Amino acid sequence: MKKRVFSGIQPTGEIHIGRYLGAIRHWVAMQDNYDNIICVVDLHAITVPQDPRLLKHRIKEFAGLLLAVGIDPARTILFVQSHVHEHSELAWILNCFIPMGWMSRMTQYKEKAAKQKEQVSVGLFDYPSLMAADILLYDTDVVPVGDDQKQHVELARDAAQRFNNIYGEIFTLPEPMIADVGARIMGLDDPTRKMSGSEEGPNHAIALLDGPDVIRAKIMRATTDSLKEIRFDESRPGIYNLLTIYHAITGEKKQAIEAKFEGKGYSDFKKALAEAVVEGLRLIQERYKQITSEKGYLDKVLAEGAAKATPIAQKTLARVRKAVGLG
Ligand code: TYM
Repeated sequence: MKKRVFSGIQPTGEIHIGRYLGAIRHWVAMQDNYDNIICVVDLHAITVPQDPRLLKHRIKEFAGLLLAVGIDPARTILFVQSHVHEHSELAWILNCFIPMGWMSRMTQYKEKAAKQKEQVSVGLFDYPSLMAADILLYDTDVVPVGDDQKQHVELARDAAQRFNNIYGEIFTLPEPMIADVGARIMGLDDPTRKMSGSEEGPNHAIALLDGPDVIRAKIMRATTDSLKEIRFDESRPGIYNLLTIYHAITGEKKQAIEAKFEGKGYSDFKKALAEAVVEGLRLIQERYKQITSEKGYLDKVLAEGAAKATPIAQKTLARVRKAVGLG
């Protein structure tokens, strides 16, 4: 039996290379050896205010991009979270078992809440419970995510353990899987902050659908230091981040990269990086065009994905309901 992989992406902002290098490319690579389920988590998106039309557009765009990067609907169940109602129901049940104290410790909540102040929704606070429901509904073994989601996956595991301690072996205990390279890609304009899709400046992130000239301009403007040497040195976050992107996108070894750019300037390196990114994204963009030009294709894939996900989710939820004594 193959191990089960589950992961998700919020249809907000853009799919930038941080999300791609930190998580999505691993979902593609894991399709051969794991039983893969990937979800566009629209219920998570509404924990902060969204424009309904834009949200609807993003859900489709993200699903199309996931197919374009290589998610294969024949090997991965790809679906939209709100199409499978069991996610909301299990989240509610988990709410009744997850202590407030665990939630209060979530660093992402603290960061997001600090930005929004009194506008913060209960849903934003409760976000990790819904994420735990996503994971636990599918008897997930492994959750490949970027570094920023590790704490949430650990909370899902703790919640499962707590529930199992009361009711017996109901949930499989999931583990986060964090890649060695690219698990935390930083902003190009500010390499001390994680690359993020939400309301950032024009030179912060590279989106998967950015054209070649936009990519070149963003990389040439990326913040570096006033030193010269092109080395993987974590104490120099700007050049370190760019080198990490180069490393992740080309697959070349660190030493080989340092040797290649020895004696060269930042501008030479940035030009080479820009071309590597342009080339890396070219095929994805071509495939995306093709996928979205086929009318009805995406809807069909997502409907089939939901139809495959639903019975798995229903089975787990039935087990949970019985254990708790509901209905
Ligand atoms: P989201 O949509 O913010 O990001 C999707 C994935 O990309 C990773 N990521 C990054 N990795 C490296 N560097 C970055 N700058 C970067 N930015 C994002 C994220 O860690 C994530 O793996 N809460 C999740 C979605 C979710 C989920 C789930 C994930 C909901 N339910 C269940 C796994 C399992 C999120 O907002 O990811």
